[in-house]
Amino acid sequence: MSEAQGGGIEGALEALRSGFAARFAAAATEQALRDENAKILGKKGELTAILKDMGKVPGDQRKAIGEKANLVKQEVEKGFESCLKALAKQKRDADLHAAPFDLTLPGRAPAQRGHAHPLSIVRDEIVGIFRGLGFGVHDGPEVELEENNFTKLGFPPDHPAVDAQDSFWTKGGLLLRTHTSNVQVRAMTTQKPPMAFVAPGAVYRRDDDATHSPHFHQIEAFLIDENVTLAHLKGVLAEFAERFYGPGTPVRLRASYFPFVEPGAEVDIGCVFCKKPDGTRPGCNLCKKTGWIEILGCGMIHPVVFEQCGIDPEKYTGFALGMGIERVAMLRYDIPDVRLFFENHPRFLAQF
Ligand code: PHE
Repeated sequence: MSEAQGGGIEGALEALRSGFAARFAAAATEQALRDENAKILGKKGELTAILKDMGKVPGDQRKAIGEKANLVKQEVEKGFESCLKALAKQKRDADLHAAPFDLTLPGRAPAQRGHAHPLSIVRDEIVGIFRGLGFGVHDGPEVELEENNFTKLGFPPDHPAVDAQDSFWTKGGLLLRTHTSNVQVRAMTTQKPPMAFVAPGAVYRRDDDATHSPHFHQIEAFLIDENVTLAHLKGVLAEFAERFYGPGTPVRLRASYFPFVEPGAEVDIGCVFCKKPDGTRPGCNLCKKTGWIEILGCGMIHPVVFEQCGIDPEKYTGFALGMGIERVAMLRYDIPDVRLFFENHPRFLAQF
């Protein structure tokens, strides 16, 4: 230490003693304070360096200088402790006066419990009703052979749905199923009647707007046995409407065309939105002022489909129906845009 050699040990100790308080006061953080303290009292600190020269002090002065060094050391230690306390208090005061909540911090309370997606809620309810009527649940692949999705269902090769414009094809000539009716084919080609199944699942079409998503969901139901008639179909539809939309919900069939049914129909239920307590339905925006809402397509399975699937059309008859889950859910919860189901915004989902 140059001061120790120049001004003598005593002078050096005195310089340290008179300077340390200002040095500690200048430290703005706990770390800076500890660093400064180490510079003085540490192993390679200034005080240690000064005391290295003790050997040069004449014997009679050593005791006095030793005592002085100890005093300086104690003063520095005390000063360090009180500055440390002051810094801690400063920090506590700052914390206490800071904004009370940091809303960006993750919460400590347990996260809210999740629940089923609205499409799953609706699907499970519909499947539950068909199970209650004795239908089993069947599954089918989303990547399907053209045969099972179209050909065996009686779609002619030039039907627009078969076109790449309307369906998603893979390079290998497979496609993403455009409806759950492929499950009918798979059931008929692998099982013998009687059979009654409900088949929920994802389907895909090249459609994309507020009411059509390229990926959506359907539920198919079909029943095959001897002597199945349109009356059975109507009975099941009436029971479904009763259980899903409420007692007394009227059902009507309008003739329509699907290649795999004959006769085919579209099914309307009495509008549940403008229904008055006396049972009348004056019409509203959701039913386009008609008092009726279309909910599904259905029909008696075409004999040609039975033939293609190896089932004797002379012996067996059956019906099939298919409905869009998104559409049912949109009507039930008054959801204006199908894309909301797939964006999965937590604020949207939390409502169900
Ligand atoms: N598969 C038809 C569709 O997606 C719906 C349907 C199913 C119609 C069963 C009749 C019978 O449009």
